[in-house]
Amino acid sequence: MNYRHISVMPNEAVAFLDCKPGKIIADCTLGGSGHSSAILEKIPGGVLIGIDQDIAAIDHAKNVLNSTSAELRLFHGNFIDLAAYLSEMNLAGVDGILMDLGLSLYQLEASGRGFSFQRDEPLDMRMNAEGDDLSAEDIVNTESEEELARIFKEYGEERYARRIAKSIVIIRKQTRICSSLRLAHIVSDVVPKKGVSRIHPATRTFMALRIAVNKELERLDAFMAQVSGLLNPGGRLCVISFHSLEDRIVKHGLKALAKTCICPSDFPICVCRQQAKMRILTPKAQKPSEAEISANSMARSAKLRAAEKI
Ligand SMILES: C[S@@+](CC[C@H](N)C(=O)[O-])C[C@H]1O[C@@H](n2cnc3c(N)ncnc32)[C@H](O)[C@@H]1O
Repeated sequence: MNYRHISVMPNEAVAFLDCKPGKIIADCTLGGSGHSSAILEKIPGGVLIGIDQDIAAIDHAKNVLNSTSAELRLFHGNFIDLAAYLSEMNLAGVDGILMDLGLSLYQLEASGRGFSFQRDEPLDMRMNAEGDDLSAEDIVNTESEEELARIFKEYGEERYARRIAKSIVIIRKQTRICSSLRLAHIVSDVVPKKGVSRIHPATRTFMALRIAVNKELERLDAFMAQVSGLLNPGGRLCVISFHSLEDRIVKHGLKALAKTCICPSDFPICVCRQQAKMRILTPKAQKPSEAEISANSMARSAKLRAAEKI
């Protein structure tokens, strides 16, 4: 298998995770194992837990990750099940959690699952093709016009969401929409062509559908709600996100975890019951360097946020 991915902000991620010998680190989004390779080198005597919902990433990791000095445990599944994986390993918590969200280049270019509007592939878009999530084909051919418009508007911030949803519903009455290229043509036909737009007319629709299929925002939100319970004291969380909806969830999740006691200083005891669980290490999201962006254009929208469990 030709698994291609270029890791984003690898040095920054490893530094924020404070990888040291003996530490237990969970890479919740293995992808091409780039970040994991860098982490493994820094944690001799420690444990690297690698999770990905795409079996291709797990198979690739088995081929490329080898360490004699640290223990490697791989799990094919969703990062929201990290607590269950830890209890399977009899671990109370981890010292670091990395999440590098979104798609790998392999998924976009070579998985054959219809993530790209430039390829003629089955309209699947499930990162876990063996899981229970509905495929993009199911969603496009069965959801109501209102729900499709909501998905395109909310997850893709698509201006022409209603128009696209309407056209899909008319066309699917004649024949089922089964391929990525067919959907791309349907969208391109109804989105006005304005001057020289920098992005393909189907970009936002495809991103929205992928987010809906994989329940990306709900799962990230659910993970943020449990993350402090998964970390050992002093443990670090590092999240790299690629669009504003993800970044907002991470930013607000961390803010909620970092809220401190607001009782007046002359109160004998705390009555607000608000104790900070995490300390934010990145008051502002970190961005890749210009040099990284010019070497890897996929990095241009990346934002990294990190925090430490108190
Ligand atoms: C951007 S890639 C990660 C690249 C990786 N850090 C590297 O250096 O090669 C994102 C990966 O996360 C996986 N992924 C996304 N959401 C996930 C989730 N909720 N649970 C598990 N894996 C997930 C995807 O399948 C994909 O392989």
